[in-house]
Amino acid sequence: MMDEKILLKEKDIPTQWYNIQADLPSPLAPPINPATKKPLNPKDLLPIFPKELIQQELSLKRWIDIPDEIRQIYKIWRPTVLHRAFRLEKALKTPARIYYKDESVSPAGSHKANTAIAQAYYNKKEEVKRICTETGAGQWGSALAHACNIFNLKCTVYMVRVSYEQKPFRKSLMHIWGAEVFPSPTNKTHAGRQIQKRFPHTAGSLGIAISEAVEDAATHKDAKYSLGSVLNHVLLHQSVIGLEVKHQLKIAGEKADVLVGCVGGGSNFAGLVFPFVKDKLNGKDIDFVAVEPTACPTMTKGPFCYDFGDTAKLTPLLKMYTLGHSFVPPGIHAGGLRYHGCAPLVSLLVNKKIVRPFAVHQTEIFKAAILFAKTEGHLPAPETAHAIHAGIVEALKAKAQKKSKCIVINYSGHGHFDLAAYDNYLGGHLKDYHYPEELIHKALNELKCLGV
Ligand SMILES: Cc1ncc(COP(=O)(O)O)c(C=O)c1O
Repeated sequence: MMDEKILLKEKDIPTQWYNIQADLPSPLAPPINPATKKPLNPKDLLPIFPKELIQQELSLKRWIDIPDEIRQIYKIWRPTVLHRAFRLEKALKTPARIYYKDESVSPAGSHKANTAIAQAYYNKKEEVKRICTETGAGQWGSALAHACNIFNLKCTVYMVRVSYEQKPFRKSLMHIWGAEVFPSPTNKTHAGRQIQKRFPHTAGSLGIAISEAVEDAATHKDAKYSLGSVLNHVLLHQSVIGLEVKHQLKIAGEKADVLVGCVGGGSNFAGLVFPFVKDKLNGKDIDFVAVEPTACPTMTKGPFCYDFGDTAKLTPLLKMYTLGHSFVPPGIHAGGLRYHGCAPLVSLLVNKKIVRPFAVHQTEIFKAAILFAKTEGHLPAPETAHAIHAGIVEALKAKAQKKSKCIVINYSGHGHFDLAAYDNYLGGHLKDYHYPEELIHKALNELKCLGV
């Protein structure tokens, strides 16, 4: 009988992170300083990030050592299981072999811990006292709150207002680990006050919350800023996911045909896929499916151009797929996917057609999540359910083509704090948001003025 769980030992936790910047098909466009319109000087980042993370952000080294102290903490939940979804396969009557990499087992419940621990470690090493951040669904905020608790750092979280209201228990978790949490936009920052004045009833967005956290860090000497996705060093830390999957597929005697992950800022997707990109560039036939909501269709509808990472234009300009920094997506339940931009590294691979973007509706993903919960037992986060839905689409395609494909889904987080969203779905109250053309055009018009 075949094993259901492909297990690794603690000694198999990767000792190095994989940096895709060494293997890109073309160089990454540099971040631009909006004031000079010239490539950013790394020194410009010193007020908000510790030196070692800035070095990682710009590094072209293929492998970067993971400090022992971080590997020790990773042992709390790593290595994670690669799980064969036999029961889901049976329900779909598919010849495809479906696996899911279970990143939901970290203390806060998602992949976000892989970078939260690393970022807190480097901040502590450089004697930072407090870390400021944004959070959408609360997954990232709680992962960072946990990491700060471990390293005895203070943690300030600006939580997107709609999620703050939809998910009060994520806030409780952050409080338990000692973080302070504010619904964003707040009146604590200049950026927050400006947004409140213009849009008094705004649901908030990740772009707005990032502005507040960056401003807080930049205006307080003992504080730094931390981002849960998008940036190169964050994607680097997530590479432990794909490195473990490679090892696990080898044990199972499998070769992946399709890798699937959802994309908010792009970090869990990159974590799974990047260690496989070189194989594809060397001729292997692997489909990388990057899944996003139709309500925030960054990769499928946005242009590939320079834009700010935040609403108040405090960040450097990044070349990425974007819906415009002023785009505020509808308040869908996958809060972690409500981001106007997308990691420059993921964007580049989408642009080069190495990664295939795919947009899906909110009600479809909840249907897939319920099928998953009924077959496999585990209840996914709404963000993760995007990947599950796309994995199911691929498994049904394999069935129609009578092909026995190997599909790997990144199970980025559990949905135990998302029960109100599930109740809404089961009660028939969720609606699909169609592409708000007008609003996106308005936001994109502002982009034209950036002139880079
Ligand atoms: C469970 C889960 N999956 C995925 C995401 C999307 O983020 P990223 O694209 O950085 O992986 C989030 C973001 O909050 C999340 O909480």
